[in-house]
Amino acid sequence: TYVIAEPCVDVLDKACIDECPVDCIYEGERMLYIHPDECVDCGACEPVCPVEAIYYEDDVPDEWSNYTKANVDFFDKLGSPGGASKVGKTPDDPQWIKDLPPQGE
Ligand code: F3S
Ligand code: F3S
Repeated sequence: TYVIAEPCVDVLDKACIDECPVDCIYEGERMLYIHPDECVDCGACEPVCPVEAIYYEDDVPDEWSNYTKANVDFFDKLGSPGGASKVGKTPDDPQWIKDLPPQGE
């Protein structure tokens, strides 16, 4: 799977959404999250993010390794809806992400 990391927080550019052929990039309140089971590793989202927030799971920088788990934990309640556009924005960000100070100031 691919993982969205810290640069997305409070940016939420959403250019990635338009590229994903399986609609597996879901919106939280502070950032977006890639569904680890629905992502088909096409990689189309990675180059379009203007802040380079998206990484293949093996390439997530060490400082952001906890975001790999965040892209899993976000779906604890949602499960696997099979499409983000019908779900819309969900306030299920992991608590530690909700608690991050405002980014990009
Ligand atoms: Fe975030 Fe980049 Fe997508 S900022 S919403 S991962 S285009
Ligand atoms: Fe979609 Fe990106 Fe995965 S475009 S299929 S989330 S690699």
